[in-house]
Amino acid sequence: MVKKIGVLSGGGDSTAINAAIRAIIKRSEQYGFEVFGIKNGWEGLIKGKGEIISSDFVSGILCIGGTKLGTSRTNPFNVEGGVEKVKENIKKFNIDALITIGGDDTNGVTNKLSQYDIKGVGIPQTIDNDIAYTDYSIGFDSALEIVTDAIDKLHTTACSHQRVMILEVMGRDAGWLALHGGIAGGADVILIPEVPFSYDEIIDVIEKRRKKGKEFSIIVVAEGAKPKSLDQQVTSTGKVDSFGHVQLGGIGDHIGKEIEKRTGYSTRTTILGHLQRGGMPTAFDRILATRLGVKAVDLVHDNDFGKMVCFKEYKIITVPLSEALKEQKPMDLELYELSKLFY
Ligand code: F6P
Repeated sequence: MVKKIGVLSGGGDSTAINAAIRAIIKRSEQYGFEVFGIKNGWEGLIKGKGEIISSDFVSGILCIGGTKLGTSRTNPFNVEGGVEKVKENIKKFNIDALITIGGDDTNGVTNKLSQYDIKGVGIPQTIDNDIAYTDYSIGFDSALEIVTDAIDKLHTTACSHQRVMILEVMGRDAGWLALHGGIAGGADVILIPEVPFSYDEIIDVIEKRRKKGKEFSIIVVAEGAKPKSLDQQVTSTGKVDSFGHVQLGGIGDHIGKEIEKRTGYSTRTTILGHLQRGGMPTAFDRILATRLGVKAVDLVHDNDFGKMVCFKEYKIITVPLSEALKEQKPMDLELYELSKLFY
């Protein structure tokens, strides 16, 4: 029987992780479970860092972004003796089950640990929104608001200076943030990793707008997008994290230079960066995180492990972790086509 749940948040943070932790604690207290808060994701389980947390820990954090538990991109399967340490510490702290809040990397570890008899439930949290079976991951909606706001602001200055403005947004290999943000903000061109682009097409849009008297254009580009002419995504540092992901960034500048060279129009690039992961969670994200957190504890209560709690068509559903993490959520190409109506 489960008595103590270990909770951790891993990977890139976002805004409503604290709302999920709060929900986990409230529901756990109702069932009489103890909650052990693990510090800094999987790193905390390797180093044995954490403490019992209760209602006091989550008091006032519903509206606060980031994660009070801390996070890291540590992969126990990539650290010497990492899995052994995780097993040892789970035993030492008498943790009966884990709830992990994060993206495919964090929850992928939870899934892999099931082979060592470690019981776990995953909660999807990533601004990339690339996890299959869930329409929304925690943090996506808040990041989307930030992207939309940035496009709104770029519009006025782009118009004043008759410039081509490029906004590079996060999302890794997925274009959800760029696509949704671009539609919400009324971007003139949206570039996503799932569809390699050509400069001729972009310039065509810019020129058509000019002919209609619209002397500025806004291009939203996902950091993972690439032109048909390039074999690889653009990376500013070339650094690779513990899960094998290369640090993306720089495609915006690449596009800016190319457009200015080909057209002569004044062009500027903004890289929105980590602003997309900060600030207060939207109401939607708070409610989503609350519902997912509660459901995760319900699964633990029912001894229903190896699952991811997901948000599908306004309902909370559960999907085996192995299934949910098999592949990245396929892009909605119909929505992408629809966005072109406004170019
Ligand atoms: O996965 C979330 C994310 O924000 C990606 O969109 C981005 O590529 C990456 O994390 C950035 O990671 P870091 O915070 O380690 O620079």
